[in-house]
Amino acid sequence: MKLLFIGDIVGSVGRKALKTVLPRLKMKYNPHWIVVNGENAAAGRGITETITKEFFDMGVHGITMGNHTWDQKDIFEFIDREKRLVRPANFPWGTPGQGMTFIKVKDKELAIINLQGRTFLPPLDCPFAKADELVEEARKRTPYIFVDFHAEATSEKLAMGWHLDGRVSAVVGTHTHVQTHDERLLPQGTAYLTDVGMVGPMNGILGMEREAVLYKFQTQLPARFVVDEGKWHFHAVCIELNPDTGLGKKLQLIRMEEDDLLFE
Ligand code: FE2
Repeated sequence: MKLLFIGDIVGSVGRKALKTVLPRLKMKYNPHWIVVNGENAAAGRGITETITKEFFDMGVHGITMGNHTWDQKDIFEFIDREKRLVRPANFPWGTPGQGMTFIKVKDKELAIINLQGRTFLPPLDCPFAKADELVEEARKRTPYIFVDFHAEATSEKLAMGWHLDGRVSAVVGTHTHVQTHDERLLPQGTAYLTDVGMVGPMNGILGMEREAVLYKFQTQLPARFVVDEGKWHFHAVCIELNPDTGLGKKLQLIRMEEDDLLFE
């Protein structure tokens, strides 16, 4: 049982990369479920319904979000009816959308939970308490539980991994756009990776054009960030799960560049 999780898709370059690479990954890994983080998919900020359809047409089963969830105004039109998309579950009570969903593929159901960290990000409900609540609910239904923890701080992500060890299949981080090399199975069997990395322009700064980012750092003046249009890089992780327990068996990092299309 394999779960393929693909990192933050950034803008049209990221979407193009996904379209190019996904058929190859399907052939190579034959994943049971495919989940992508889509919170930067529309010009770096949020997602539109058209883009969600594009992803589902490519064979994606579920989409996770993060701090850019509300950046495209049409999200409010479809988030309540699109049950394959989850936004952070610890957003304030009454927020549109859902923080957990169940995706059934060939009789096997995967719970997808999205949570957001609170370190260097807006104050939200406690992601650890919310995780406890949702994991308890999910475990009544399926042993396959995936958590995308959208957070800035490595320490907060590691803390979530340890907090959920043995209770979920995998905890994988998103948001920093840089893939970490600390993939492991925690002692109680949860697969863990601090950050899966991004899919999008490789010569920008986290996908954005360098000039505006540098200008802002150097002057502290406001600057309009736009997605870089250059070549892409692609980051994902393939997680093999134990079919009896739902726990992790093996993690394989995936990293490719437009020019060489090499697997690592
Ligand atoms: Fe983010």
